[in-house]
Amino acid sequence: MQPYVDTTVASVARGYGYMLGDEENCYEVDRIAAHGIEEMVPGTFALARNNRRFLVRSTRFLAKECGIRQFIDNGSGLPTQMNIHQVAKEVAPDARVVYIDHDPVVLAHQRDKALLADDGTTAFICEDACNVDAILNHPETRRLINFDEPVAVAYYSFLHCIPDAADPLGVVRQMMDNVVGGSYLVLSHLISPDAEVRQRITDFLVNATGGNWGRVREEEDVRAFFEGLELVEPGLGHVTDWRPDGGEEEQTHEWIEYGGVARKP
Ligand SMILES: C[S@@+](CC[C@H](N)C(=O)[O-])C[C@H]1O[C@@H](n2cnc3c(N)ncnc32)[C@H](O)[C@@H]1O
Repeated sequence: MQPYVDTTVASVARGYGYMLGDEENCYEVDRIAAHGIEEMVPGTFALARNNRRFLVRSTRFLAKECGIRQFIDNGSGLPTQMNIHQVAKEVAPDARVVYIDHDPVVLAHQRDKALLADDGTTAFICEDACNVDAILNHPETRRLINFDEPVAVAYYSFLHCIPDAADPLGVVRQMMDNVVGGSYLVLSHLISPDAEVRQRITDFLVNATGGNWGRVREEEDVRAFFEGLELVEPGLGHVTDWRPDGGEEEQTHEWIEYGGVARKP
């Protein structure tokens, strides 16, 4: 059975995919929402592309410099050119990745195998990423992830989809409590220092997506996710400043993706 896809409300996965250049898997409502936000804050499409570049650089770092071989990617989104397993496998062909997203469009894609390696070293779980118990106990997680060894837990451009009432901090803490020392947390999150901007963009995104996308938070809210962990150089900041490789684009500074990488002691 095909998963039900609501084409009347903009989806975060489809709208963000469109911003990254995926014209195929979106609907008019997603294009309108994406262009609406670009019109409101020019340079937002570039922000999305820069976030994806951060995903590539940090995954490469984790596989190459930290020896990480297993990844749990929460809010994975639609597959784009370089997904975590493709980046990690350049360094370590034995790398294993569990992808989690709750959007049926992403589910449809993994069925097409677009998000998955064909050697059984990746899996997709269609689940609310706030349901940490379900993710940890899922047979595919148990098959691919050895919890006696370090894991990289990723939340790229995802936690702003989670309202305060759903306790995003608690979600991240529960996940990190279940991985061994030597594991890593990597995340990016939309922030703005300006309260008016935060409110304006949050209102737009929440309205455009029926509440699914966009609580623009503050720097200190993102710092809280990393409490008790050892930040890797250069620490937390705008993701374009995290070990840049020259591929970063000019983008808006009205709001940014803020984040970094940290090791569990
Ligand atoms: C902005 S996209 C980020 C995609 C990818 N991580 C990246 O950075 O390129 C956010 C993704 O989180 C997913 N998402 C939002 N809320 C979710 C939830 N509660 N559980 C699982 N996935 C969720 C959306 O469907 C979307 O695909």
